[in-house]
Amino acid sequence: MRMRNKPWASPFLESMPSTVIQNPKQYASLWKQKLGCTILHVEIGSGKGDYWNTMAHMYPDHGWVAIEKDRNVAATSVKKHINTLLPTMVLINQDAKDISEWFTEGEIDVLHLNFSDPWPKRGHSKRRLSHSDFLKVYLRLLSFTGQVVMKTDNAGLFEFSCEEFSRNGFILAQMSVDFRRTDHPEDAITEYEQRFLDLNQPIYRAIWRKYL
Ligand SMILES: C[S@@+](CC[C@H](N)C(=O)[O-])C[C@H]1O[C@@H](n2cnc3c(N)ncnc32)[C@H](O)[C@@H]1O
Repeated sequence: MRMRNKPWASPFLESMPSTVIQNPKQYASLWKQKLGCTILHVEIGSGKGDYWNTMAHMYPDHGWVAIEKDRNVAATSVKKHINTLLPTMVLINQDAKDISEWFTEGEIDVLHLNFSDPWPKRGHSKRRLSHSDFLKVYLRLLSFTGQVVMKTDNAGLFEFSCEEFSRNGFILAQMSVDFRRTDHPEDAITEYEQRFLDLNQPIYRAIWRKYL
């Protein structure tokens, strides 16, 4: 998601220390304690934050960490939801390539990848959030019952991801090539997802577990 530069973004993010975590390393192994939860969710590439905000209200006992690398997008997401932010919601405005420094082994229960950038060019596959390099890190950070939930509109990215997950020892627990064909009140619709639903396009979704 690209957005025009917003000069207010940095000062605004800095003015929200209870939601925007500037130094995520300091909470490694302490996230559940900080957020007062026993189940920790992390969404990488949270965009304008609709999923983060809606899910946090649907599951108020869980902790919700949004990671969004784009400063303008991250600031927009916090501003958009400023009146509904909960103490269980925090945001990290940094690139998830450093995620292994922010969480300790087994700390994350559910990792969400919603409409991740597909990086279609052959030479760019390492940047995909479901590339083996990321999956190896996720495996270490996920708890014993941990899972990765992925949604996308992009068949190519979905196919690539299925191969990468199976190659890295994940177990496929659920899969749909038209997730919204049936009602799923348990799962919030993201901004991108709504756009594709409006175009009548199918949503691909899968859940991979570390162990069955
Ligand atoms: C296509 S948008 C999807 C936004 C939202 N998840 C949705 O479904 O509407 C992908 C978002 O992921 C962010 N992103 C991509 N790679 C990232 C990374 N390595 N770390 C953090 N954010 C990332 C982008 O900045 C962008 O805002």
